[in-house]
Amino acid sequence: MLHLLPQGAISSRQDPVCFNFKVMSFFATAEHEKERLQYFASPEGRDDLYQYNQKERRTVLEVLEDFPSVKMPFEWLVQLVPPLKNRAFSISSTPLAHPNQVHLTVDVVSWTTPFKRKRRGLCSTWLASLDPEQRIHIPVWFHKGLLPIPPTSLPLILVGPGTGCAPFHGFVKERAVQSQSSTIAPTLFFFEAKGGAFYAAFSRDQPQKVYVQHKMREQSERIWNLLCEGAAIYVAGSSRKMPADVMVAFEEIISKESGALRESAARWLRSLEKASKYHVEAWS
Ligand SMILES: Cc1cc2nc3c(=O)[nH]c(=O)nc-3n(C[C@H](O)[C@H](O)[C@H](O)COP(=O)(O)OP(=O)(O)OC[C@H]3O[C@@H](n4cnc5c(N)ncnc54)[C@H](O)[C@@H]3O)c2cc1C
Ligand SMILES: NC(=O)c1ccc[n+]([C@@H]2O[C@H](COP(=O)([O-])OP(=O)(O)OC[C@H]3O[C@@H](n4cnc5c(N)ncnc54)[C@H](OP(=O)(O)O)[C@@H]3O)[C@@H](O)[C@H]2O)c1
Repeated sequence: MLHLLPQGAISSRQDPVCFNFKVMSFFATAEHEKERLQYFASPEGRDDLYQYNQKERRTVLEVLEDFPSVKMPFEWLVQLVPPLKNRAFSISSTPLAHPNQVHLTVDVVSWTTPFKRKRRGLCSTWLASLDPEQRIHIPVWFHKGLLPIPPTSLPLILVGPGTGCAPFHGFVKERAVQSQSSTIAPTLFFFEAKGGAFYAAFSRDQPQKVYVQHKMREQSERIWNLLCEGAAIYVAGSSRKMPADVMVAFEEIISKESGALRESAARWLRSLEKASKYHVEAWS
């Protein structure tokens, strides 16, 4: 796992937000702005503050632009601005193919807020803005992730929708290099993207959603055969609903192919987890 600190940005502090608005109200010189900031900082204004600030993920800079009469001494301003958090990225390469290099697979995060403002993720946008030809120094550090490197003899079922494909790039590439000199156990890789042999699902290319679980169900016999050969399951990606939904898909597949009840299939999967053969790394 590689941790990276983006440079040169300001983002708003979420907690304690009321305190920050109280501080800004103190330095506001226009009466209507002072009143509005005081309202946001009050218990009555809490819901409106949530809608205005947290839900919109406003930065300190954006709030100050909305309240231009706030003239704050620098030493107060720096107290409002939170320290930047580092971001984790899965290592997406293998030293077998790229010695002395670390590759990342990064999706530029973007979304539209309830007030229809376009927002972009701080670090992913900054990374995408870098010139690959230019050498720069970025503070990074390494940290052992939750996905152990599988031995070449272990059959693998990899499920990596969206950015979840990042760690599995490295796994697949490593096996490809190793396969030139030794025998490698089979690997099934289920991937999914917004837009369009591994099994790729494209969630938005047709009216109805097609997720990795659909591709897994289509390959249920192959999955079951690989599990019977002792395969390990690796899941990576968004922590919202995906890991739970993928687990349900495995339950259904095991139940269908083995003829066992769903409860027995669920118990079987739990025993895989206990035997360190079901690994999940998820993020939001
Ligand atoms: C263990 C681990 C491994 C990771 N590996 C990778 C990887 O390999 N590749 C990769 O691209 N990322 C990976 N991530 C995610 C990465 O660390 C960052 O969180 C991601 O790149 C976004 O950072 P950012 O600074 O661009 O966005 P930020 O400025 O931090 O904004 C992200 C935040 O915006 C909000 N947000 C985002 N989308 C929406 C939406 N649609 N609606 C509402 N709010 C939203 C969420 O609150 C989210 O937390 C990993 C995270 C962890 C913990
Ligand atoms: N906090 C939030 O509200 C929020 C929202 C979105 C993204 N994020 C960002 O999400 C990043 C991870 O991005 P990501 O692109 O890997 O994940 P993602 O945005 O959740 O989507 C990746 C792929 O998985 C699909 N998907 C959605 N729900 C699924 C499910 N239950 N089962 C299987 N597949 C499913 C998506 O399809 P569809 O999108 O077409 O349904 C898409 O094709 C985080 O870093 C975070 O910044 C956060």
